[in-house]
Amino acid sequence: MITINPRQYKHIVFFTGAGMSAESGVPTYRGHGGIWNKYRWEEYACQEAFDADPEKVLKFHELRRAAVLACKPHVGHVTIAALEKKYSRITVVTQNIDGMHQRAGSRNVIELHGSLWRLRCHCDGTLEDMGEKYKSYRCDKCGNWLRPDIIWFGDALDQSVINEAVVTIRRCDLFVSIGTSGVVYPAAGFPRFAKENNARCIEINPEANDMSFIYDEAIRDAAGKALPELFLKSLEEN
Ligand code: APR
Repeated sequence: MITINPRQYKHIVFFTGAGMSAESGVPTYRGHGGIWNKYRWEEYACQEAFDADPEKVLKFHELRRAAVLACKPHVGHVTIAALEKKYSRITVVTQNIDGMHQRAGSRNVIELHGSLWRLRCHCDGTLEDMGEKYKSYRCDKCGNWLRPDIIWFGDALDQSVINEAVVTIRRCDLFVSIGTSGVVYPAAGFPRFAKENNARCIEINPEANDMSFIYDEAIRDAAGKALPELFLKSLEEN
């Protein structure tokens, strides 16, 4: 069994995908029980769908908000948050929009694909909105539909967020990827930046995928089991 002493690293990045939240009960996107097996993203997760029927898309996102609020962060999320508290210089770069890392106590979180807990409007930027139902579907300033602040299919990513993630990953010396299928770019290409810095790269995922070759070590186990095993010893030390 591998164990890691975080003191040996100057900057650690945890790079997470939907598999990170799977043991909390949040469905993944692909594979068994995946959201995109049940719902066509063309109807619920792209700008065209929103333009055609904003209310339907907002209601779909309310269903997702309710599903996520019914779930709790698991021991893997808590382990990462505890490491940040103890060692600092730890960044979470996540593709997840569910806010689970923050609920577990992580503060240094870069959200690549936006957040279920934010809306935006052309007239006034973004607004936080936590809860099952949105407080309003309409902007109280201009009256237009509010749009979930999420990167949907076909959307460009926020370049400033990408830059921040790339700069952080380029300087890390330990890169731990957890629960991502490595198919959605540009995030899927991020492990390469860590490799270019000669970072030690570890993958935690019960299943291998097309990006697995890039990692130095693979832990074919669930996040909630692998993360505490990797770090518990260091968290128990004073
Ligand atoms: N622990 C670790 N990994 C797990 C676990 C677990 N308990 N359960 C499942 N996995 C792995 C699966 O093997 C799979 O490789 O998590 C991965 C989930 O893959 P996806 O559902 O494709 O999620 P992700 O890679 O985050 O998707 C990327 O696609 O739909 C878009 O914007 C959405 O952010 C999302 C992006």
